[in-house]
Amino acid sequence: MIRYTKSLEGITSEMLDGGFFVGWPNPPSPVAHYEILENAYRIVLAIDDSTNKVIGFINSISDGVLTTYIPLLEVLPEYQGKGIGKRLVNTLVEDLNEMYMIDILCAPDVQEFYTKLGFETAQGVAMRNYHNQSGINLS
Ligand SMILES: CC(C)(COP(=O)(O)OP(=O)(O)OC[C@H]1O[C@@H](n2cnc3c(N)ncnc32)[C@H](O)[C@@H]1OP(=O)(O)O)[C@@H](O)C(=O)NCCC(=O)NCCS
Repeated sequence: MIRYTKSLEGITSEMLDGGFFVGWPNPPSPVAHYEILENAYRIVLAIDDSTNKVIGFINSISDGVLTTYIPLLEVLPEYQGKGIGKRLVNTLVEDLNEMYMIDILCAPDVQEFYTKLGFETAQGVAMRNYHNQSGINLS
């Protein structure tokens, strides 16, 4: 069974080592991933009870007053197409409803996934320091 949680209670970095950041040449480690979730404003995790692994996650960061940004959403490939991504987004957005701005930058092939869930398409710009893709040095 897939269960959902909005907290890191009982979650370890080992539970995040199932293969997230598909296609990233230099992905964050499970320890860095845990830190990303720990530092987030709000999170929602999907956990497969049969393996005790996190199989999907979404996070948001925020100024706590007006604006929130959703940097990451991922469902592991073998769990996609089962409504898990939709549940993660809807649960997070419910939690963020006090905010004015809820923003996401995404590739064109994912826009429809979000517009089906109530988002509007918008224009944006971004800068990426690819040499920092695995995260800052945490040690
Ligand atoms: C995008 C992603 C999170 C979707 O998760 P998922 O669990 O497979 O999605 P769901 O099964 O909840 O799909 C919900 C609905 O969106 C649709 N959908 C899923 N992916 C879609 C896509 N890329 N484009 C358009 N519609 C999509 C589904 O068909 C479904 O439609 P329905 O409600 O009419 O049946 C998942 O494909 C993923 O992790 N991709 C790689 C990482 C990524 O691109 N993340 C987004 C970063 S901005």
